[in-house]
Amino acid sequence: MSVPVIAIDGPSGSGKGAVSQAIACRLGWHYMDSGAVYRVLGHLARDRQVNLEDIGQLLDLIQCLDIAFTDGEVLLKGIVVEDVIRTEQAGKAASIVAQIPQVREKLLVWQRDQARMPGLVAEGRDMASVVFPNADCKIFLTASVEERAKRRFKQLKDKGFDVTLSALSRTIDERDERDRNRAASPLKAVDDALILDTSDLEVEEVVATILKEADRCRGT
Ligand code: C5P
Repeated sequence: MSVPVIAIDGPSGSGKGAVSQAIACRLGWHYMDSGAVYRVLGHLARDRQVNLEDIGQLLDLIQCLDIAFTDGEVLLKGIVVEDVIRTEQAGKAASIVAQIPQVREKLLVWQRDQARMPGLVAEGRDMASVVFPNADCKIFLTASVEERAKRRFKQLKDKGFDVTLSALSRTIDERDERDRNRAASPLKAVDDALILDTSDLEVEEVVATILKEADRCRGT
C-alpha cells in the first residue's frame, strides 16, 4: 500500500510551515520541511568555507548529512540547529545550493524516504512537481509580497533576529527570483494543484480548506 502524501508548495512567507505542521499534527502524520534540508546544507557549506557552487564538495557534505525533525525543530547530528538555519543568510545559501541539479538529485532519495505510514505532509518548492508527483493531494500557497515579507519579519523577530523589513523584503525578492527562474525544479504550481492565496486568511482557515481538499482527493 502506498503512503498517503499531502504536498504543499509555495514561496517564502506563504504560510507553508505553520499550515503543514498543523495539518500533520491534526492527522497524526509525519512532517517534512524540505527547505530545512537545503538550509542545513547551505549552513554547513558556509561553516566549512565550502564554495556554494563547488558541486564535488557539496555532494561530499550531503554524504554525511544526518538530519532529524523533533518537536518542530531541526537536528543536525542530534544537535538543534534551528537558530543558525533560520537566518536570511542561511536562506540565501540554501537557495544558491538548491540551484544545482546534482545536489537536488542527491537529496531526492532522502526526501522520498520520509514518506512513512500513516502519511506524510511535505512542504517546499517542488514537492508536487518532482519529489512526490503522485501525491494524493497537491496544494500551492501564495500571498502578496508585502504580506509575505511581514510574516517573515515577524517570524525572525520572534526568534530574536535583528532584521529590518526593507532589507528582508529585498532578500526575499532575490530568493524568490532565484527559486522561480532556476532550471532545476523551479518553484511553480503544477496543473492539478489547488492554488490558495493566504494573504487574508488565518492559519486555521487555510488548514481547514486543505483538510477538506485532502478528503475530496481521497474521495470521502
Ligand atoms: O522553505 P525555505 O524558505 O526554508 O527554503 C529555503 C530555500 O531552500 C528556498 O529559498 C529554496 O531555494 C530552497 N528549497 C528548494 N526546494 C525545496 C525547498 C526549499 O529549492 N523543496
